[in-house]
Parts: sequence; C-alpha cells; structure tokens
Amino acid sequence: MTVPDRPARPKVIVTRELTDGVMARMEELFETRLNREDRALTRAELEAAVADADVLVPTITDRIDADLIAKAGPRLKLIANFGVGVDHIDLHAARERRILVTNTPGVLTEDTADMTMALILSVPRRLGEGEKLIRAGAWDGWKPSGMLGHRVNGKTLGIIGMGRIGRAVARRAQGFGIRTIYHNRHRLPEGVEAELGARFVDLDSLFTQSDIISINCPHTPETHHLVNAERLAQMRPDAYLVNTSRGEVLEEDALIKALQSGQIAGAGLDVYVNEPHVDPRLLDLPNTVLLPHMGSATYEGRAAMGEKVIANIRAWVDGHRPPDQVLEGWD
Ligand code: DGY
Repeated sequence: MTVPDRPARPKVIVTRELTDGVMARMEELFETRLNREDRALTRAELEAAVADADVLVPTITDRIDADLIAKAGPRLKLIANFGVGVDHIDLHAARERRILVTNTPGVLTEDTADMTMALILSVPRRLGEGEKLIRAGAWDGWKPSGMLGHRVNGKTLGIIGMGRIGRAVARRAQGFGIRTIYHNRHRLPEGVEAELGARFVDLDSLFTQSDIISINCPHTPETHHLVNAERLAQMRPDAYLVNTSRGEVLEEDALIKALQSGQIAGAGLDVYVNEPHVDPRLLDLPNTVLLPHMGSATYEGRAAMGEKVIANIRAWVDGHRPPDQVLEGWD
C-alpha cells in the first residue's frame, strides 16, 4: 500500500560511502544515489542533493545548517542521519520546514564505551608513550622506574552524561574495580544507580572528586564548552580527562593550557573541535592519547547503523513515525 505524499521508492541521496551490504540493500529498496568516492560532498553537491532528494542520508562530516535547509526542495521530507550525534544538523530549521530528522542510537553504544574504556586505561598507564618508545627503537629494557603510570583500580571515575554510552562505560568500570560518580540532566532511578554502582553528584563535586573524568554527554547548546577553564581548574593535578563525545563540549584551548601547565595530568581524546584538524599543541604533549574519531568504528557497528537508517526510511515510506526520530538531541 502506498501512503499519499510518500513515494514508494523515494529518492535517497547518501553523502558518504557506507558498507557494501547497506549500500546494496538501499539500492534494492529505494531510488538511491550513492557517493562511491569515499569523500565528503562539497557544499555545492550538498545543495544539489537537498534540492533534489526525498530523503538525505548525511553523516557528521556534512554541515546541515539553516542555510542549507533553506535550499531544500519541496520533496525533502526526511534527513536520516548515519550516526547518533546530530549537532551538525540544525534541528530547529528542519522542524520549521517540517523535515523529520532521525539518527542511529543504541547500535554504537558498546563500541563507543569500549573505546572510552580504552582511553581510561591508556592515559594513566601511558600506552601511547610506551608504544612510541618501542617504535622509536628507544627502549633500553625493563627497569623498576620505567614507564610508571597511575593505577586505575580503586580510583574514582566521574562520568558526565549518563545516557546509553555513559551507562555502558559505568558497567565496564565496575569490572576494573573503579568507583563511579556521575552527573546527568536527570538523576537515574535508584535501582539503575545500584546496578551500575554509580552515585549522582553535582558538577562541582564531580570535577573536584574524580581521578578520571569521561565526557559522554551530547553536544547541545547547554553542553557547549561545559568543560571550560574554570571546570579544569577544579580538577586535581593528578586527574585525567577523556572525551569520546564531541570536541565542542570541551574548551580545547583551555584543555591545552591545563595540560601544558600541569594543572591536570593527562587527556585521552577521540574528538576535536575542528576535525580533522588537530591542534598541533596537542601533538607536542606527551601526556595525551589522541585518536581519530574512531569510537564507533567497527564493521558490526557500521552495518547496524546502516540497518537503522534503512528502518527509519522504510517506516517513513509506510506512513509510520520513524523509530529514531530526533526530538531534542541524543543520549
Ligand atoms: C556518532 O554516531 O555520533 C559518531 O560520533 C559519528 O558521527
């Protein structure tokens, strides 16, 4: 059955190369235009895409701002984002034009939590430095004073943002004997706190009490630069910071100064303000572990993200509310 105003085979424009299986399924189901070049579309290409498509499938590398949405043709009814974070999409402008926005929550939770845990272990235990030492041929053998780092067992982890990913990090931390405190817009039900072994605290307590802080909240107007110079000044000089959320939650310049001056002990970053540019001052700091936004980068996760995009488009075609419609951001 076709639904009035909903084409049975919508024109779907996908901005980036996805996994083979996902692209093949999309071509079966929709009139799909793929980008086979594995590069981001130019602004002109994006403008042409929104002018022509029923459904746009963008990723974080596309800036879907109000100006772009103003150029959307009358056909564009759905922006089915490939990814959970939607801070690159102007949700307000989309709503004004009655364009639905969907994302891909849930399927990259465990992968991102794994990568967060990897950074939580890597920074205090200096994995990056150790690896570089070996590759530089500079290791002169075991010695009692060699490559000393800080133990994570028994330490306090402060999680900012206790959505799906924050909770998955807390579950992992339990296994490493790490105590978790957290701050979130809403306190979790007591039963969930007990299951995660996590205690709700205000932000001041989180910054002053944590040995390691992990940023796991979405980037929204409320969380923009939430971790700024004042917050970093509340951290202890032996504390570490990990960010696998979005670069913009952190005031990058303030972090660099805090690392350079020894105000905090180190940082593990998977995300940056101006990706793929990484501030060269970060590269010069030995007490950082720097990853190229790879928190959700698994074959399994990417396939599942593609399936979610397809399910959202199909629900819309069938006249249903897409299961992952974004209303106020992500968690
Ligand atoms: C996500 O899904 O938000 C990842 O960070 C990539 O966009």
